[in-house]
Amino acid sequence: MKKTLKDFDFKNKRVLLRADLNVPLDNKEITNDARIRKSLPSIKYILDQGGSVVLLSHLGRPKGVYDENLSLKPVAKRISELLGQEVKLLADKNVISDEIIEEIKKVKAGQVVMLENTRFNPAEKKNDQEFSKKLAGACDIFISDAFGTTHRAHASNVGVASFLPSGVGFLIEKEIKYFSEALNNPKRPFVIIMGGVKVSDKIGVIENLFDKVDKLIIVGAMAYTFYKAMGYSVGKSFVEEDKLDLAKSILDQAKEKKVKLILPVDTLVAPEMKNGYPRKVVSCKEIPDDLMGLDIGDETIKEIKEELKDARTVIWNGPAGVFELEDFSKGTFAIAEILANLDQALTVIGGGDSASAVEKSGYEDKISHISTGGGASLELIEGKKLPGIECIEEA
Ligand code: 3PG
Repeated sequence: MKKTLKDFDFKNKRVLLRADLNVPLDNKEITNDARIRKSLPSIKYILDQGGSVVLLSHLGRPKGVYDENLSLKPVAKRISELLGQEVKLLADKNVISDEIIEEIKKVKAGQVVMLENTRFNPAEKKNDQEFSKKLAGACDIFISDAFGTTHRAHASNVGVASFLPSGVGFLIEKEIKYFSEALNNPKRPFVIIMGGVKVSDKIGVIENLFDKVDKLIIVGAMAYTFYKAMGYSVGKSFVEEDKLDLAKSILDQAKEKKVKLILPVDTLVAPEMKNGYPRKVVSCKEIPDDLMGLDIGDETIKEIKEELKDARTVIWNGPAGVFELEDFSKGTFAIAEILANLDQALTVIGGGDSASAVEKSGYEDKISHISTGGGASLELIEGKKLPGIECIEEA
């Protein structure tokens, strides 16, 4: 058990809080503020307990240099609005400097400030000790709440932990609770739905879960690699040609381990991956040469509903089709609806695309847990240790 917020007395303490405020931006406008909203409970708690908060986060992937388009300015503005108090951005192109340290020392109980995008400094991704020490320098306690970044070992989420007493925030605590419940002690039947484009991205997850799950449902473009491996024609659908043997071995392992592996039976096809082209539903085993599969069909949706009806634990990671395009979004939203209506089941959505699909679907409130971590949740499901959690003190 890691230390949590409840293990500290925050009165008059300056708390270095690493959040994952890596939100999608369109022309410096935030298009989805879920990660910001989910970071608020820890911030509010520290303030309520009489502490002050120095926020750290990365945003996007700047190459260790300042990039105006990836400044945390819009994020500081959004947090200020949501918190109802000013969150001042202590803007420095190198993130930390003697002047910024002096500014941090002036922060009073009840106040929140934020440093610039930690990835503006090349020392961040190197988990550099000196940089970590400077970030930690003017603070008393380190709280890590950046679940989405826990699979990275960087200075602002791992290095700083060696210089301050440390604990995890409410968000990480919640993420760990739901994933542990689903993975370590699942009520059965336990079903996993894997989607997305590449089999290679999900192989670690599939192999780790073979010994745990009762059913594995495969959707998304990765299903075509399986069909091609089984000798069917998949037309212009996306296929990972170099993963056909891997797909075959997954099919064999499922048989051996007696896991029911369910592939789509029908697919929505079109000539191009664009809205507005003529579409039709065909059998997954007979995709015409000039068309590509871009979503699951109605028969598959029905089958998934049937397979899930008595499920007690479900993890879903990866969309069923190109849901960003309206023409190919039905299957993904249908899965969100099916999960939302499983009143008896613990439903956990891995982060990334499936999380934004559920948020868009309007069923967010009927899902047990929607993870804020894409890569991090995959690594957790793969059974890997996450450096961003490992570095935190034990209670
Ligand atoms: C994410 O969005 O998955 C996290 O914020 C980590 O970002 P990264 O993949 O750029 O390290």
